[in-house]
Amino acid sequence: MSEAGQIESLREEVLAGLSRRPRAIHCKYLYDARGSELFERICRTPEYYVTRADLALHESHTPEFSRMIGPQAHVIELGSGAGIKTHRLLASLEAPRAYTPIEISAAALARSARELESAFPEIEIRPLQADYTRPIDSDALTLDPPARRRIVYFPGSTISNFDHDEARDFLARLGRMAGAKGAILIGVDLVKPVDRLLAAYDDAEGVTAAFNRNLLERLLRELGAEVEIDAFAHEARYDEALERIEMHLVARRPTRIVVDGETFEFDNGDSIHTESSHKYSVASFNALAEQAGLKSQKVWFDPDGLFSMHWLVADA
Ligand code: AVJ
Repeated sequence: MSEAGQIESLREEVLAGLSRRPRAIHCKYLYDARGSELFERICRTPEYYVTRADLALHESHTPEFSRMIGPQAHVIELGSGAGIKTHRLLASLEAPRAYTPIEISAAALARSARELESAFPEIEIRPLQADYTRPIDSDALTLDPPARRRIVYFPGSTISNFDHDEARDFLARLGRMAGAKGAILIGVDLVKPVDRLLAAYDDAEGVTAAFNRNLLERLLRELGAEVEIDAFAHEARYDEALERIEMHLVARRPTRIVVDGETFEFDNGDSIHTESSHKYSVASFNALAEQAGLKSQKVWFDPDGLFSMHWLVADA
C-alpha cells in the first residue's frame, strides 16, 4: 500500500475505533517503522520471555522439525524470515525444494531474501509480497516440479493477536495452504501465572509503554490529530475468561482526541484497547486446531516450559 493509502487506512480505523464501544484500534497499526523498532527492543527486555523461549525451543528441537519435514519440502513462512530461527531451520533441512517467505513490507522482504540467497545459494528462495492475513493466491505457491509436501511455518506466536474465531478461520486457511500432505509448524505462547504475564507486557524500563503510546504519536504525526499524549497511560490487563493479555491506553484525566474535526471525549479511566495476546494451554490449542479441521500431532516446549510449537495436519 502507498504511504497515502496507509494514512487513509489509519484515519478510517481511528475514526471507527474511537466511535465503537469498547474503544479499540486494530493492533496492526502499532507496527509502523518506529513501532517495529520498539517491538525489537521489547524482545530484549528481561521481562519479555517470549522471544528467548521461542529461540530456546528452536535450539533444542530444530533437528527434529527437519526430520519431520523430510526432503523435497516447500517451506512457506508467514513473515520475512529474517531471523536466526529461519537460518537454523533452512540449514538443517534435507534437500529442501524451495523456501517462500510471505511478508507485507517490500523492504523487509527484499532484505531477508537477499540475505538468505547468499547464505543458502543451493535453496530456491521465492519471496512473496503479500498480507498473509488475507487469502493468498494459490498459483503464487505452486512449484514446477511440485514439492513433496508443503510446510507452513509460523513461529513467534503471532497467532496470539487473533481472537479465537479469527484464529480458527486463519488456521483453517493455513490448512488449505499446506494441502492434504502438508503440515503447519506454529508457535503458541502458553498460559502461565498472571504476574509473569503482566510483567512481560509492562516492562520496568517502559519499552512496552513507549510501543503502545507510539500509536498516539502516529495520530499526531500522520493524521495531524489533536491529542494529549501524556494524558494516556499504558496498561496491561489479563482477561481470565478469554485467557489473554490486553494492552490499553487509559486516560488519566478527562481529555479529548480530535481527528478530522471529530471530537472524541475521554473521562478519567476511559481506555482504548490496542492489542490482545492470547495464551493457550496444549489442550485449548488442540481444541482450536480441531475446530479448524486440523489435528495437533506433536507439540514441543522450551526447557522452561514457557512456549510451545505445534505440528498440525489435516484431521482426516
Ligand atoms: C508479536 C503478537 C507475539 O503478543 O507477545 C509483545 C506482541 N505486544 N508485547 C505478543 C507484543 C507487546 C507479541 N506478538
